Amino acid sequence: MKILAFNGSPRLKGNTATMLDSAISGARENGAEVELFNLYKMQFSGCISCFTCKLLSKERPIVCVIKDDLQPVLEKIREADAILIGTPVYFGSESAATRALIERLCFPYLNYADYAKSHFPRRINVGLIYTMNVPIELFEKVGYNVNFGRTRDTLGREFGSCKMIFANNTTQYDDYSLYEANSTREIKKAYRDAHFSDDCQNARQLGEQLASGKLFNS
Ligand SMILES: Cc1cc2nc3c(=O)[nH]c(=O)nc-3n(C[C@H](O)[C@H](O)[C@H](O)COP(=O)(O)O)c2cc1C
Repeated sequence: MKILAFNGSPRLKGNTATMLDSAISGARENGAEVELFNLYKMQFSGCISCFTCKLLSKERPIVCVIKDDLQPVLEKIREADAILIGTPVYFGSESAATRALIERLCFPYLNYADYAKSHFPRRINVGLIYTMNVPIELFEKVGYNVNFGRTRDTLGREFGSCKMIFANNTTQYDDYSLYEANSTREIKKAYRDAHFSDDCQNARQLGEQLASGKLFNS
């Protein structure tokens, strides 16, 4: 069982990285081999709309043709048994690097002639971890269930099955007195102490499920 994991946060020890660590531990403890890529350490762009991946001729490539740091990783995903993506929420969406990964990863597999027939040759699981400031009570009100649901559906359609988990009301600063904020260190710490270990436990379970190889939707 080979899992490729992606940290879509520029912070290598932030909330997303911590959640990913838990998921990766859960997967490794259940026998999976996991390789982690920090997207903000790599040089790559999103889709450039060249449509080479939509050619009907023999030149049609299997993965995105843009030659950059992402291309060898896209090749590896061909052989992966599961994918794990962690992202902070930026302006109600995935981070820019995560969006770029999803565009480059999914577009070549999107079958323009029949959306229901992905070009990805197998059905595998994708685990999606979101970390965000928005508290759980506001999650649906601000439309995040719809926004992230769209990404879940895109990944699920191209790869087989996709499950999302969340960490809400995360801590951004070590010292809230130094930065503009709508909360205080004490309030944020109390919330984190009460919830973040449960969020990480949830992430661990996601990793265990990915390692099992059983499709989420089966
Ligand atoms: C540029 C930027 C935009 C953000 N936009 C949102 C947002 O729209 N909604 C939200 O809930 N949190 C937002 N946040 C907060 C982060 O999503 C949150 O703190 C996250 O847990 C950070 O993850 P990290 O520690 O892995 O970097 C934003 C943070 C940044 C830096």
